[in-house]
Formats: sequence, structure tokens, C-alpha cells
Amino acid sequence: MNVESPTQIEPARIDAPAGDLPDLVAEIAAKAEGLGRALHPQTALHLASLVRLMNTYYSNLIEGHRTRPRDIERALAGERDDDQRDLMAEAAAHYRVQEAIDRAAVDGELPDPADPNFILRLHRDFYADASIDMLTGRGGERSFVMTPGEWRSRAEHDVQIGRHIPPSSARVADFMSYFFSRFAFEPKDGMRMTAVGAGKAKRILALATAHHRFNWIHPFPDGNGRVSRLMSHAMALKAGIGAHGLWSVSRGLARGLGPGDAGRTEYRKYMAAADAPRQGDRDGRGNLSEAHLVGFAEWFLKVCLDQISYMSSLFELDTLSKRIERHVLITDGLSPESNWLLQEALIRGEFERGAAPRLTGLPERSARRVLKELTDAGLLASDTPKGPVSLRFPSDTQDTLFPKLFA
Ligand SMILES: Nc1ncnc2c1ncn2[C@@H]1O[C@H](COP(=O)(O)OP(=O)(O)O)[C@@H](O)[C@H]1O
Ligand SMILES: [Mg+2]
Repeated sequence: MNVESPTQIEPARIDAPAGDLPDLVAEIAAKAEGLGRALHPQTALHLASLVRLMNTYYSNLIEGHRTRPRDIERALAGERDDDQRDLMAEAAAHYRVQEAIDRAAVDGELPDPADPNFILRLHRDFYADASIDMLTGRGGERSFVMTPGEWRSRAEHDVQIGRHIPPSSARVADFMSYFFSRFAFEPKDGMRMTAVGAGKAKRILALATAHHRFNWIHPFPDGNGRVSRLMSHAMALKAGIGAHGLWSVSRGLARGLGPGDAGRTEYRKYMAAADAPRQGDRDGRGNLSEAHLVGFAEWFLKVCLDQISYMSSLFELDTLSKRIERHVLITDGLSPESNWLLQEALIRGEFERGAAPRLTGLPERSARRVLKELTDAGLLASDTPKGPVSLRFPSDTQDTLFPKLFA
């Protein structure tokens, strides 16, 4: 075989899932269906913003870039600290790219996540605000400035990840066309026989293997990990397991399944294992190991299921309601009556400001003061100054409302 043939990514998919895989796929589909279903759509919408913040935090953390949730919020508000300008710009960009994906999904306009044009745009948008310093590759002797939204194409872009040497830069465009032909969810003419197509179970399985094969090709000089996690997020939405943005892959990939440090090394370990060439006659018929691809897919889908389960427990109406009550109790500056306003927003999604006296049982002026405490704390907000208020989840509520969400 030509060493630089795109078919080198075979086996790209798992055609006959066995072992744990069929159950995992079914459980993911069922659990994702239930995630957030009891929540009011308004509440779910604002929780999805928090999840986006969390995904941004963990995806950049995997790359070794640590930006505190509070600083991501500040970055989104346009602030930049001198000593972490690049990190803040990167976090804001990651958040915005994911937001655009989530919005497109809601509007039914999310493109095929495996489409090279979509992937190139993710990369371009992610790096749109990047400094020259962030775009400068320092691999070998020569340094170069990466162009956002372009594949690796010249020899100086060649990369190595650990022991894995991805295809040479000149071949990346062809590899990514082939990638599309194998991972299209909405195949174009001529791809129907080879692509994933519409089946939900097929899409869930492909979500896992596409993540590895994308990174195996490593189509960009830098940013492959972040772009691949955004692509996987988009695939999850398109596969119908995105739960309107109430979970995302990065937290699980960063933390793994095992405890502490052991868990944190799993992602790299399973990715590296799946780089292996075919291990003898009984390891499929492709260039790469089928057994290790299956191992990776099992791990990846267990991680997804673990995250969906965890977010389900966190976003359970009862749990949220109790934690909100506790948050009011332990937070200075919040009157006990504010709990009633927060509970109303949780259950009904939003309420008119004029309803505060009725909801708190307080006279007009006191009720307005309680409402102001909540808007000052950022727990309630509205799109227009006088409009109805709904729940928000600013980062200083995270310790009480969503323990362990962040590392
Ligand atoms: N052995 C491996 N084989 C394939 N991909 C890998 C391997 N190890 C790590 N990766 C992927 O490569 C990414 C790092 O590549 P890089 O281009 O620096 O992306 P980013 O800058 O977004 O972190 C990791 O986040 C991971 O997704
Ligand atoms: Mg990198």
C-alpha cells in the first residue's frame, strides 16, 4: 500500500459492534433523551451557557492552558488581563465557537460535522482573535505563523504527537476528503455507500471513532485537540444525544473514568493505543488496529455516558431546587425571601418583575429590594431592562449549585 494513502485511517468505523458497545450506545441514547427534560426551556438555555463555559475550561485545560471560570466570564465580557491576554482570548473564542454550534443546532442549520468546510471554519473562528504569538509554530528549526482555517500543507507544518507521526502535510487535504467520505452524517451523492448516514446508533459509534481518526490525521499545525472536541460536540448534537447543550465531551476527556491522576492520563493513553498498526491476522483488515479502535470507542463512549449521567444528576429539578435554597441560606446579602423568587424562576422559567410582592409575600418596596439583591448577584437577569427575569448561573454560585463541575 502507498504509505500516504488516506485509506490508512481504516478501519475508520466499527461495522459490527460487539461486547459492551451495543449496550453503551443504547444507554447513551436513552440517558441523553432524559437529560434536562424536566427543566423549563429558559432554565435549560442558561444552564447550557454554563456547560459551554465548562467545556471551554476543560478543552483548553487538556492542552495545558488553564483559565479560571471567573476569568472566562470576564474574557467573554471583553476584559483582557495583561498577563493572560492570550489565554482569555482563546477561552472567549472557544466559548463563542461552541455557542454558534449550539445555536445552529437549535435552528436546524448545523452543517455536517465531518465536512472539511465546517472543520476549517471551526479552526478559523477559534483562532480569529489569536495573537501572532499563539499562531507561531515552534516545532523544528524554522518557526512559522499558522494561518487560521487552513490545513497543514507545507513540510514545515509536519507534526509528531508522542510516537505517532501523522500523514505528511502535503497529503492532509486528501486525508480529510476521505475522512468526510467515511464520517459524513448527511452524505453527498457518491458517498452514500461509504458514509455514516442517518442511523442514530451508527452516528453515536462514529462519533467515537471519528474523534481518534481526526487526531490521527492531525490536520492542523496546532489546535487539533480543541477543534476535534468541538467537532465531537457538534456530532453529538447531530446524533440526537446533545440534550440541547446540557453536556459536552471535554470534561470527561479531561478527567477520564478512573480517580485523580490516573483518570487524567486515560485520554492520551487510549488515543496513543489506537494509533497502533494492525496486530496480526485477527485484528481486522485495515491498516490500523481494529481491537485498539474498539478499545478507544468503548472508553470514549463510557466517558460520554458518565458525563451525561453526571449532568443529569446535577440538573435534576429537585437537586437544583434544594441547592438554590442552600445557596440563599449561606450567601451574605441574600434575604431568605429571595429563595421564592429563584424557585419561581426555576419552575416557570421566568416571571414578571411586578410579581415579586406576590411571590415573596412582602410589601412592594421590600420585594423590589429582594429582587435587586438577586439581579445584583447576577442570579436573575432579563434580556431587556424591564423585561421578565430568568435564572442565571454566574461562576461564584458554582461551588454550591454545581459542586465538582470544575477541577
Ligand atoms: N497519540 C495520539 N494520537 C492522536 N492524537 C492524539 C494523541 N495524543 C494526543 N492526541 C490529540 O492531540 C491533541 C493535541 O494536539 P494539538 O494540535 O496541540 O491540539 P491543541 O492545540 O488543541 O491542544 C490532544 O488534545 C489530543 O486530542
Ligand atoms: Mg497545541
